[in-house]
Amino acid sequence: MVASPMEKAEILVEALPYIKEFYGKKVVIKYGGAAMTDCELKDKVMQDIVLMKYVGMHPIVVHGGGPEISGMLKRLGLGTEFIDGLRVTDAETMEIVEMVLVGKVNKEIVAGIEASGGKAIGISGKDGGLIKAGPIDPSGKLGFVGEVRSVNPQIIETVIENGYIPVIAPIGMDARKQSYNINADLAAAAIAVAVKADKLVLLTDVPGLLRDPADPESLISVLKVSEVETYIREGVIAGGMLPKVKCCVEAVTGGVGRTHIIDGRVPHAILLEIFTNQGIGTMVINE
Ligand code: ARG
Repeated sequence: MVASPMEKAEILVEALPYIKEFYGKKVVIKYGGAAMTDCELKDKVMQDIVLMKYVGMHPIVVHGGGPEISGMLKRLGLGTEFIDGLRVTDAETMEIVEMVLVGKVNKEIVAGIEASGGKAIGISGKDGGLIKAGPIDPSGKLGFVGEVRSVNPQIIETVIENGYIPVIAPIGMDARKQSYNINADLAAAAIAVAVKADKLVLLTDVPGLLRDPADPESLISVLKVSEVETYIREGVIAGGMLPKVKCCVEAVTGGVGRTHIIDGRVPHAILLEIFTNQGIGTMVINE
């Protein structure tokens, strides 16, 4: 399917109101899932981010890296135990988590953005006191799995003011310099609130929120915060969607304009969501 010149022009014009609306605005993108592991998808995400920057938005990338961490632990002969989907993180595991996320994954994303013609700076939540964290589980069973206690966005502002795209590894630190591994969705939501972002975009491996999980046609395109409780009760928001939706609710009630759960398996999902009227995923808004 090749678009005719007229169709191409129409597509660009459809983007105009959004280019205008989001000019100079901050957009936090949680980067993870298939879009991070598949080479071709990876390049397209980088292009989308660089394009956003050059039309005047300020993308802020927060990334995960679960599979990379598991891969490295395996190579080192270290096992991984999960409790309720959370990686039990002892001191030795934490060391590897930080090395992989900050030293490898973060820099690969920076390199990808640079290769696509953008300028990026990679930091972790430790840099500039960005993320103050503490243990998510006070009983200590999960070790250094962290939760965000506070965010100081100053370093992000500095990076943006100087024309760079910030790329953030979700590692936080407490007052005693102890590192914590923080879920990237939660870190992205907290950062979006702290920088007063206009948007939070979560790249996932699902089409969005589906009324019927077996039917990709049943996408709920717009979800209002006021509808969330009912959908949870009805079981529509369940499983892996529950924490994603909660993240979005936290962000929009914290002042972020719109949040988007989109399918990172679709090439250029970010552009399709941001620059078209329809979008491709589920937009969660506070109404
Ligand atoms: N492009 C617009 C925006 O980013 C609208 C997106 C609509 N998306 C949706 N899933 N209904 O705000």
